Amino acid sequence: MTDSLPPQRQIRSFVRREGRITPAQMQALEQLLPRYGIPAQPRQLDMLTLFGRSAPVGLEIGFGNGEHLASLALARPDWNFIGLEVYRPGIGKLLQALAAQHCDHVRVESSDAQEFLRDRIVAESLDAIYIQFPDPWHKKKHHKRRLIQAAFAEILRDRLRPGGELQLATDWADYAEQMMEVLETLPGLRNLAGKGNFAPRPENRIPTKFERRGTRLGHAVFDLAFRKE
Ligand SMILES: C[S@@+](CC[C@H](N)C(=O)[O-])C[C@H]1O[C@@H](n2cnc3c(N)ncnc32)[C@H](O)[C@@H]1O
Repeated sequence: MTDSLPPQRQIRSFVRREGRITPAQMQALEQLLPRYGIPAQPRQLDMLTLFGRSAPVGLEIGFGNGEHLASLALARPDWNFIGLEVYRPGIGKLLQALAAQHCDHVRVESSDAQEFLRDRIVAESLDAIYIQFPDPWHKKKHHKRRLIQAAFAEILRDRLRPGGELQLATDWADYAEQMMEVLETLPGLRNLAGKGNFAPRPENRIPTKFERRGTRLGHAVFDLAFRKE
């Protein structure tokens, strides 16, 4: 007999897929993660220590191959950026781009964004959060795996500074509606496009692999932009 319940299995918003990793991406992981990676420590991040300077911080969740994050870092040398992804070939690609661009104001973490934001990001320490084309988990029985749910949305809001912005994009209409409902229901966030409205495409959002895929399939893209009050 035991008096403790087995630990609850965490519902993940991803499945680990290794895909094909090229020798160059593998080399980037080995050689560049020590430079761009975030040290594993059992405490919250101190941005000043992490970046060696004080600047606004933008964080992208699920950056895929890192096209958007690399272009953002190039366009905003006066910001610091954190990228979270679990797909190793994509992390390798971003690391290659960062080294080629000599971008030293980006840090990369290969772990579950839900846990990372909960455990390592200090409340009100982010100026922007970007989530582009999160896995749609389109079957109804998988909707529980979707990233944008009430509990995680609360964490996103709490990690933003007042005035900070949450940008999302998806090419799944019913996920766009779910995002809208979850975020508009949450106190402390204001829809920048006006209640119930999707936002115009932000100028920083360059087409990524998953947007191109959606376009090929004839999907419309929905942007959402919220500000923390
Ligand atoms: C559909 S892809 C979109 C990638 C990219 N944003 C784009 O537009 O091309 C979603 C990505 O989110 C990542 N992802 C999903 N859940 C995650 C989590 N909890 N933490 C970190 N990355 C996650 C997946 O590994 C995947 O690469």
